[in-house]
Amino acid sequence: MKREDLKPTLINGKNDDIAQGLSRRSLFMAAGAAGVGAAASLVNSKPVQAQSTDWTQPGNNNHVIELQEAGKYPDGEVGIDFYGHCAIKITSPAGATILFDPWRDDPSGAWGLWFKNKFPETPVDITMSTHTHFDHDAIDRPISTMVLDRMVGNFEFADIKITGYADKHACIAPGWYNWTNALAEFGVNACPPDNVGHMDMVVYLVETGGIRTLIWGDNRHNPAEGFWDAIGRVDVLTLPVDGSEHILAYSMANTIIERLKPKVIIPTHYLSETTTYTLSTLQSADDWVKDQKSFKMLDGPSMKLASADVSKMDREFMYFGHHAQTE
Ligand SMILES: [Fe+2]
Ligand SMILES: [Fe+2]
Repeated sequence: MKREDLKPTLINGKNDDIAQGLSRRSLFMAAGAAGVGAAASLVNSKPVQAQSTDWTQPGNNNHVIELQEAGKYPDGEVGIDFYGHCAIKITSPAGATILFDPWRDDPSGAWGLWFKNKFPETPVDITMSTHTHFDHDAIDRPISTMVLDRMVGNFEFADIKITGYADKHACIAPGWYNWTNALAEFGVNACPPDNVGHMDMVVYLVETGGIRTLIWGDNRHNPAEGFWDAIGRVDVLTLPVDGSEHILAYSMANTIIERLKPKVIIPTHYLSETTTYTLSTLQSADDWVKDQKSFKMLDGPSMKLASADVSKMDREFMYFGHHAQTE
């Protein structure tokens, strides 16, 4: 019998017939992808559908209407708030807010416990996700007027312009934990061109307050040439780097930085003691940051950037360390 034909006998201590039509292969696809309903059916022992709960969220769209009607927007600083892992909120000078990649634990349980709490129900105007992996896609958790999930193309609102570029996830684990092998073990391709859907990615370029910020997500280190041309100048770059080299190896990240020459680099996807369990297998980004020629250990989960200041910087690392917003 081939390895991929093996059928699981036990899931959550109950016989597999609780999940009719689901092999563990589909469990693993569900684990990484949008199969929340399927995964939930394993946990609850009966079929359920994933349903949005956003109709129950408090508040309303008054803030978005205010911004929409303002017509004229002030110059000023751009706010950056770190919520741990890859979750970052950008606040435009006019006060429009976008939250990227809110996280959750894998609903199927296959990838274990990563996060110490549920993602805070923080109010924002826009929630966005780069891809459907559990540690990036809790798009129902923020109290958000808009949800732009995996958006490709252009979006403009108030004093913000966002461009989404479709690309692909890093598909070969560069570190000691060969997590991409799990996909091969369950019969799906991690790498393009025939990658499973949850290894698709969108990278976002956010333009506001004169600052161009690139939200890298878990993208591969070697996108096609057209990617770099389309992105153009990058002032602030987020990159997923931790001591275990879970997504990008230090050398890959350093090469990206050499190519883009951003003014500011913000490490993401590392072990934050505020939000993340050691069980995630992630480690801190301390060693990578301390190896750079210029870095700043931030003393809280927030910072403000003015374009005039940023333009004078050169590959300055701004590291949130264990600081993270919790509400
Ligand atoms: Fe991912
Ligand atoms: Fe991730």
